[in-house]
Amino acid sequence: MAEETKTVLPLAKGVVPTGKLHEMRKRALEDPEGFWSEIASELYWKKGWDKVVEGEPPYFKWFVGGKTNLAYNALDRHVKTWRKNKAAIIWEGEPGETRVLTYYQLWKEVNKFANVLRDLGVKKGDRVTIYMPMVPEAAIAMLATVRIGAIHSVVFSGFSAKGLAERINDAQAKVVITADGMYRRGKKLNLKEIVDKALQETPSVESVVVYNRLGLDINMEEGRDYWWNDLMEGAETYAEPEWVESEHPSFILYTSGTTGKPKGIIHDTAGYMVGVYATMKWVFDIKDEDIHWCTADVGWITGHSYVVYGPLLHGATTLMYEGAPDYPKPDRWWSIIEKYGVSIFCTAPTAIRMFMRYGEKWVERHDLSSLRILGSVGEPINPEAWWWYFKHIGKEKCPIVDTWWQTETGHIMISPAPGIELVPLKPGSATFPLPGVDADVVDDNGNPVPPNTRGYLVIKKPWPGMLHGVWGDPERYKRTYWSKFPGWYFTGDYAMKDEDGYFWILGRADDVIKVAGHRLGTMEIESAFVAHPAVAEAAVVGKPHPVKGESIVAFIVLKEGQQPSDELREELRKWIRETIGPVATPDEIHFVTKLPKTRSGKIMRRVLRAVISGKELGDLSTLEDEASVEEVKRAVAQLR
Ligand code: WT7
Repeated sequence: MAEETKTVLPLAKGVVPTGKLHEMRKRALEDPEGFWSEIASELYWKKGWDKVVEGEPPYFKWFVGGKTNLAYNALDRHVKTWRKNKAAIIWEGEPGETRVLTYYQLWKEVNKFANVLRDLGVKKGDRVTIYMPMVPEAAIAMLATVRIGAIHSVVFSGFSAKGLAERINDAQAKVVITADGMYRRGKKLNLKEIVDKALQETPSVESVVVYNRLGLDINMEEGRDYWWNDLMEGAETYAEPEWVESEHPSFILYTSGTTGKPKGIIHDTAGYMVGVYATMKWVFDIKDEDIHWCTADVGWITGHSYVVYGPLLHGATTLMYEGAPDYPKPDRWWSIIEKYGVSIFCTAPTAIRMFMRYGEKWVERHDLSSLRILGSVGEPINPEAWWWYFKHIGKEKCPIVDTWWQTETGHIMISPAPGIELVPLKPGSATFPLPGVDADVVDDNGNPVPPNTRGYLVIKKPWPGMLHGVWGDPERYKRTYWSKFPGWYFTGDYAMKDEDGYFWILGRADDVIKVAGHRLGTMEIESAFVAHPAVAEAAVVGKPHPVKGESIVAFIVLKEGQQPSDELREELRKWIRETIGPVATPDEIHFVTKLPKTRSGKIMRRVLRAVISGKELGDLSTLEDEASVEEVKRAVAQLR
């Protein structure tokens, strides 16, 4: 460990720990009934729960017997108070326009859109796919869906037609909500064209609602496609919420795993709601006067939990920005913070590293004194980026909350909690599990590892926002999360605890990679490669990258008669963009005649990783053919 990462922050000097955090953590695990009941009582329940948590691994139910509604809690609760006229969403478009929706206005839009969905025949339990840019209508669509007890599946607008179609089909969505297009770096992208292409292979879709963002001249299919505004015009202004059982799914969100197919992670209503509500308070210390800006897209769990639901459940103001972080200039984000007086700001380390490269001069042009808490999410933050963020954005006065969690966990699990008690920070450590999170680091046999030793991160007890299955694939749910350590949730991450009990997340223990904060499965990219007519075999690994954290490197074996060439390399790159989406574009493609495999035929990605990062190759006794490694080495040397 570098010296720098060991230092306890000067910020903490003179701070006398009150012990409140650890006291709360202790109580939450000893008395989950009492602990979570108190928090859940701050929200509205049509019918109270009988039991806080019930079940056995891998299935648990939270707030059993209760009935509630997520959109009601996020909106109606506040509309009945002085918050009626408070800003719920402040939105800035890439070209610079601003829209403010008060709680009352947002509530009305959501009610109307809920009626639009009902009129389109959407019922409780039906799936609605949302494929939209970062506009308030994306949040309106999500809230309207849960208001009527339907289940949303938001698909990130960076996924291709194929990626979208796969997710629509898996969820068997009845309705797709989209926009004509979106801005990206000043360019107009036609989203509807992508949707039209996807819809050629999605028989479950009955209607498409199109929000007019750009005024593009797009194809509208009679009887299937409707303009958002047309439908809203005729819609009733109030929609009675559907009071759903606590365990009713509120959404599915697709994420990458270790197989070729993305998995639809299922989240419930009540547990998710309470977990997001609690962590929003503990981690971000949310207050009425805050402007909360989390830069995540609504297409990811961070967008669900800390752009839309978390802030709104608290009646707080959430900021949404539509465009690229450095457009038109590298100070766009800092200008937004200054313009609206953002007080809580949360982003991914990859963005911080990008801004570090642009230099401080872009930051210094702006008054960032409104900030009080900075968040980091989605990947490990390296100490250099941590310190830059702390010094140049937070001016050494804002704590950094390094939040560890996953699509599956629903909400933040390990993080500093200034809303309870700020513990001394160590750059690169997510500090301690939050109350109610029984995390540990164990070896292959499930035994806790000694301090400063790498092990697997597991969660030993259920937590409110936990996943409730993989859509349509209960076997995969059990296998992926609950079988490595029977009875415990396996996170897929490596971690260690230091001598003070601080948690350090050390990256994935499986074939998942994190590219610019986006989670990708190496097998998913490999299957996309082999679907190309020229490709026989493919192996994909992550390579450490100074800005993106990891970049994608592919080793390709071509079919008989195919010749390696730069054109083919370019074509394959394009192919991946089209099959999965731009997020999965490989940085390097190496052509080889064979891949390093074990005698039983498994690709040794570990060896590939070692070669590309110039590390020790490790134990090669199971390798089938030494020559394959030599070839990989040559290919890598050649391309550099
Ligand atoms: C994976 C989950 C965090 C929600 C958004 C991403 C990695 C996440 C951290 C962190 C180190 C982190 C893990 C995790 N990760 N947060 N603070 N430090 N690594 O959710 O796309 O489901 O990815 O992101 O590897 O398993 P996701």
